[in-house]
Amino acid sequence: MKFSQDIFEQRRDRLAQMMGANCIAVIETSPVAMRNRDADYKYRGDSSFYYLTGFTEPEAVAVIETFDTAEQYCYTLFCRERHHEMEIWNGRRAGTAGALADYAAHEAYAIEFLDENIIEMLQAKEQLYYRIGQRRDFDHKVTDWLRQTAEQYTPAAVPKQLRQLDEIVDEMRVIKSADEIACMETAAAISVRAHQRAMQQVRPGMMEYALEAELNYIFAQAGCVPAYTSIVGGGANACILHYVENDQVLNDGDLVLIDAGCEYAYYAADITRTFPVNGKFSPAQKALYQLVLDAQLAAIAAVQVGAHYHAPHQVVVEILVKGLVTLGLLHGDIDTLIEDEAYRRFYMHGTGHWLGIDVHDVGAYKQQGESRRLEAGMVLTIEPGLYIAEDDETVDAKWRGIGIRIEDDVLVTAQGPRVLTDQVAKSIDEIEQLMAQHKAATC
Ligand code: GLY
Ligand code: MN
Ligand code: MN
Repeated sequence: MKFSQDIFEQRRDRLAQMMGANCIAVIETSPVAMRNRDADYKYRGDSSFYYLTGFTEPEAVAVIETFDTAEQYCYTLFCRERHHEMEIWNGRRAGTAGALADYAAHEAYAIEFLDENIIEMLQAKEQLYYRIGQRRDFDHKVTDWLRQTAEQYTPAAVPKQLRQLDEIVDEMRVIKSADEIACMETAAAISVRAHQRAMQQVRPGMMEYALEAELNYIFAQAGCVPAYTSIVGGGANACILHYVENDQVLNDGDLVLIDAGCEYAYYAADITRTFPVNGKFSPAQKALYQLVLDAQLAAIAAVQVGAHYHAPHQVVVEILVKGLVTLGLLHGDIDTLIEDEAYRRFYMHGTGHWLGIDVHDVGAYKQQGESRRLEAGMVLTIEPGLYIAEDDETVDAKWRGIGIRIEDDVLVTAQGPRVLTDQVAKSIDEIEQLMAQHKAATC
């Protein structure tokens, strides 16, 4: 799915409005990252640059200048010029003509002219918006431009204020439009299929990377890439929160935790499921799984317009602590255990994050020092877990090495939470049934 240029233009209109008259915003895309000699990582541009421009090539800088009024603004795109030989080696380029014709730029110049042209654009502006402190070389570049503006004009011609561009753009990105939600639904649907397939294909003795390949097959068939490095952790590997080696055998009797989602049209899904390698939960696995599931369902129900962002986390902590006491993994008074954060031995991360063009999407979690209120159009993950270290001698041996997380993507709506990823089997019965059906069909 490709957004029409109108969508990006409307975003630039809004940005210009919020900047006000006589301001300038400069935003660059990400550089190409080298993997090793002569081999680059597949290019993926900067998320906010994409959000404002729809332009996906590297070596590009967008400049938005407002004049006497914010309505009257100029959008200039500096990009790679077309180049016959370079395009034979490295692929097509829009060039400046394409920037004007296909990306609705008001003006376009070859990227080589940025340093020369920007000085005139900066002079006499009140405020310069850019992403202060994000990339050292860009910070240096801006300082140099300001010095040159003072030299070529007068020190009084230098913008009087440097403003953090992210403060505006991040807040725009927090509330998703209908088009963005449609993309996220597709990313979610493809990722759902990948998780379902993994549940059906897993077998004791399989390697974690072979199970990861089942996810990648579905992603690639849909023209997608993983939105982040997939986690496929069998047994105690599930207790390593950012486990990405995925190079161990999946053992009979263990659980496997998969945290994976695809990126579709620049938008991410982020799903975690934990299920038994042999298709049947053991009693200990069942007890902990049901506890995490209860916490997750209650947390999803707390995703309501007007609720605090942190409300689902509080719900999770309360349910997990009560459950851990009942199961004998924690001892003592519930309120004290919560206050002392005694649960952090077993649940050491937050309950979610914003989701969008970035898997950990932008946007403030607090406003005026308080947890912000949820609004319709926000998308967040709900992902409680429990992780019992394999060497934790303080708990009964039956619990050790069990790691469980359950994660879904939730859209805040006026009618309540809408789970974009609810089609992946999640209850113990659903998971065992799906796995049994597939086993029966392939025996
Ligand atoms: N997959 C990253 C996360 O769940 O936050
Ligand atoms: Mn997540
Ligand atoms: Mn995740």
